[in-house]
Amino acid sequence: MDLRKYAALIMGVMMVAGVAVSHAETDDDEEDDVVSNVPAQAQICAGCHGPDGNSLVPMFPKIAGQHPEYLEKQLKNIKENVRVSPVMAGIVATLNDEDMTILATHFAEQPARPTPSVSNGPGSIGEKIFQTGIPGAGVPACASCHGANGQGIAPGFPRLAGQHANYVTTQVQAFRDDQRKNDAAKMMRMVAAKMTDADIAAVADYIQGLK
Ligand code: HEC
Ligand code: HEC
Repeated sequence: MDLRKYAALIMGVMMVAGVAVSHAETDDDEEDDVVSNVPAQAQICAGCHGPDGNSLVPMFPKIAGQHPEYLEKQLKNIKENVRVSPVMAGIVATLNDEDMTILATHFAEQPARPTPSVSNGPGSIGEKIFQTGIPGAGVPACASCHGANGQGIAPGFPRLAGQHANYVTTQVQAFRDDQRKNDAAKMMRMVAAKMTDADIAAVADYIQGLK
C-alpha cells in the first residue's frame, strides 16, 4: 500500500474524529478516558501511533516507552530534514521545541506493549544475531548498543524491544541503503551494510517479541 495515501486517509479520519472528540469533552468529561493527562498536541499522533503510543499498524512505529531524548531527537531531525519522512514532515512543521519536549515526555511515560514474534523466539537465528551478531560477516551484536533485552541505553541508543518487525525492517534497510543517515558516527549504517534481507527479517521478528 502507498504509505502516503494511507497517511492522508488517516489524517482525514482524525480531523473528523477530532471535531467529535472535542465536542464530547465539553458535554461530559471523564468518559472513555483511555490515557489520562494527554497533552492536546498528542491527539493528532493517535491516528497513526495509537492513543498511548503503541501503534497497532505494523508500518507505524510504537513510540510508547521509548527514551524521551531519542523521541525528541527524531522529531527535531525530521523537522530539519536530517531524517527524511514525508509522512511526519507536515506534522512536525506545526510543532515548536516546547511541543516536542511535551510530546516526547508524554509518549516515553506510556507503558510499551510488545507483539509476539512469529518464529524467532528463544534459540532462533534472530536471537543469535541480536545477542552475538554475525561474526563471519562482521556484524556486531545488536545487544552491545541496544541492551541485552533491547531496552536501549539512554540517551543515544533507542529502545527496540517490542517494536513492530515491519518498521524495524524498513529502518535497517533504510540505513543500509543510505536513505536514513541521522545515526551519529554512521553507527547503524555500518552495522546494516553487512546484513542481508534474511538477516534483517530474522532479527526484526525477534525484536518484536522482546519485552
Ligand atoms: C499519518 C501518520 C502519522 C501521524 C499522524 C504521526 N506519525 Fe509519527 N511516524 C509516522 C511514520 C510512518 C513514522 C516512521 C517514519 C517514516 O516511515 O516516515 C513515524 C515516526 C515517528 C517518530 C520516530 C520514531 C522512531 O522510533 O524513530 C516519532 C518520534 C514520531 N513519529 C512521533 C509522532 C508524534 C509526536 C506525532 C503527533 C504530533 C506523530 N508522530 C504523528 C506516522 C505518523
Ligand atoms: C554500534 C552501536 C549499534 C549497534 C551495534 C546497533 N545499533 Fe541500532 N542504532 C544505533 C544508534 C546510535 C541508533 C539511533 C540512530 C538515531 O539517532 O536516529 C540506532 C537505531 C536503530 C534502529 C532505529 C530505531 C527506531 O526506532 O527507528 C533500529 C531498527 C536498529 N538500530 C536496529 C539494530 C539492529 C537490528 C542491530 C543489530 C543487527 C543494531 N541496531 C545494532 C546503534 C547501534
